[in-house]
Amino acid sequence: MSGDLLVIGAAEVVTLAGGLRRGSAQGDVATVRGEASGPLAVAVLGGQVAAVGRGSDVRTVLEGQGVDVAGLPHLDAAGGTVTPGLVDAHTHLLFAGSRESELGLRQKGATYLEILAAGGGILSTVDRTRAATDEELLTHGRRWATEMLSHGVTTAEVKSGYGLDAATELRLLATYGRLAADGPLELVPTFLGAHAVPREFRDRPDATEAYVRDVIERQLPAVAEQGIARFCDVFCEAGVFDADQSRRVLEAGARLGLRPRLHADEIHDSGGAALAVEVGAASADHLAAISDAGIEALGLAADRGAAVVATLLPATTLYLMSGHYAPARRLIERGVPVALGSDFNPGTSPTPNLALVLTIACLQLRLTPSEALAAATINAAHALGLGESHGALEAGRVGDLVIWDVPRHELIPYWVGADLIRAVVKGGSIVRERASTP
Ligand code: NIG
Ligand code: FE
Repeated sequence: MSGDLLVIGAAEVVTLAGGLRRGSAQGDVATVRGEASGPLAVAVLGGQVAAVGRGSDVRTVLEGQGVDVAGLPHLDAAGGTVTPGLVDAHTHLLFAGSRESELGLRQKGATYLEILAAGGGILSTVDRTRAATDEELLTHGRRWATEMLSHGVTTAEVKSGYGLDAATELRLLATYGRLAADGPLELVPTFLGAHAVPREFRDRPDATEAYVRDVIERQLPAVAEQGIARFCDVFCEAGVFDADQSRRVLEAGARLGLRPRLHADEIHDSGGAALAVEVGAASADHLAAISDAGIEALGLAADRGAAVVATLLPATTLYLMSGHYAPARRLIERGVPVALGSDFNPGTSPTPNLALVLTIACLQLRLTPSEALAAATINAAHALGLGESHGALEAGRVGDLVIWDVPRHELIPYWVGADLIRAVVKGGSIVRERASTP
């Protein structure tokens, strides 16, 4: 039956069983190692994880359920490591064009917000995206979704935000729907109408206010009516949308059933982390400029069981050359659950490679390899509201996994930018497989 698979011959299986990770447990990846017990196995039946552990034990469990083990499709991990499929908790997958010229501007000293204020940045991508056909957007989406998958990502959050008018925002979200239907990458769509104030509003004295009203009164109701987004996001940043404007958008979204998440405290402290707690956001993202009060607000929320996941995006900080990374160690010490995302977008993070982000997180955020892996699996799943079904290899969860050609998970971020992936499995189906053994 499709969705059935028996992975055999693993040296290590990183299960991430046990729920959201935070504090001293951020790096507890619940690993099963094969040294003493012999090769390990993972069984997926009907698209869901059925059993994980010593090969002979997994066979016994399956036989006990009346499964014809010999008749299952087998996949040999050949002494590699099996992890849950990676979850990318923050991407801007759909856009048109590219912005390589901004790299040169930044190398000469221009800042990201200066380029945006001068009508470049996000706004130049909006021009290109509005002019693109649905088919062009779909082709772009397929290309980069396929690339994400090849780096081990089986589920990704995907934002609109390069339309900035009702028609184009709806077109972007509808295109995510078509991409998701094609599969195999699973997509979690987010409406980000409040990404920037578009050109047609900029000459008005009340530009930002007028656009916030457009988002709340026109765009959000249309998105909610079509049921094509799960979350509502805002770029809460000095000179873009302030905390009050962000609150109004997020609350309006929540009233329409879209859960809040936000770009918070990326470049300046804008009170974004505290706002995320106030509105019950699933995630507060970036946080490179979070204040002490912001860290405390996230810590208190986690302590009272209402955690807002801190989704950190270190590839963005690297690409912006700001040198000012999110205080990941302080967040972890304060008990805030940390997730990771690529922030794939044409301006600040043109990388679809979440495996590479794990390495950047180790080098620049000082996460351990285990902490980084938890951040890109179970915690990222929680950041997307999928914490009970995705992000871990536990019986009953989705059968999404990656086989890495290394004998233990610490080697995944160690081999910087290397192609380590033997196979990617989505819902028990092999969706990527290396043709030859290295
Ligand atoms: O997460 N900061 C806002 N949004 C994106 C960048 C979008 C762009 O520059 O096109 C981010 O970094
Ligand atoms: Fe972003």
